[in-house]
Amino acid sequence: MRVILVAPPGAGKGTQGERIATRYDVPHIASGDLFRAEVARDTVLGRSVRNDLDAGELVPDRLVVELLTPPVIQAAREDGGYVLDGFPRTVEQARLAAEVAREHGILAQVVLALDAPEEVLLDRLVGRAGREGRRDDASSTIRHRLEIYVDQTRPLIDFYAQRGILHRIDATPPADEVSAAIFSILDPLG
Ligand code: AP5
Repeated sequence: MRVILVAPPGAGKGTQGERIATRYDVPHIASGDLFRAEVARDTVLGRSVRNDLDAGELVPDRLVVELLTPPVIQAAREDGGYVLDGFPRTVEQARLAAEVAREHGILAQVVLALDAPEEVLLDRLVGRAGREGRRDDASSTIRHRLEIYVDQTRPLIDFYAQRGILHRIDATPPADEVSAAIFSILDPLG
């Protein structure tokens, strides 16, 4: 099973990514988690992306592709596939990722575009800020992340629709309902 999640902040990429990974026994590869781990370990990469993460800016495409390509190839070759959460996030990343994936015969089978109204996304992220204290969950930064999604990530929906692998999911209902909608698309493939 090879799945890509495209969604604005707060739509539930992380929540649904874990559930998909468990159900279909494939690795959940979350680009934001990988970058936050680099920052926490204070690696060279972590130091170079810390300000982008804190400000809600995108990390440069080159660094993203360098970090994400090895685990994605390994997951597809050795662990039966992948569910990608947060990568690709720009059309350029999607083009570069597709080139590599085509070479290795591991192109994504399905892209799930999750979405919910902005006020729902804001409520969820402000709620999480109170519980988890993620540094990019300050309300002005949340708004900036949503703008970046609209400008730089949402164009991926057309990109994948043109490839005929896009499914849209309403991510507004409770998480179990969203999962049920996702599994009804993925079960026939799994
Ligand atoms: P990343 O970690 O990917 O953050 P994000 O896209 O802003 O997404 P979130 O984690 O905020 O939301 P989510 O959609 O995963 O929702 P979640 O399930 O957590 O990226 C962080 C940063 O890393 C970026 O800003 C950038 O700097 C950098 N980065 C990462 N990838 C990059 C890339 N490819 N290129 C460049 N830069 C990159 O849910 C949110 C909350 O809502 C939770 O509390 C959850 O419990 C709740 N919730 C979820 N679903 C529901 C539901 N259905 N009903 C009620 N509550 C729900």
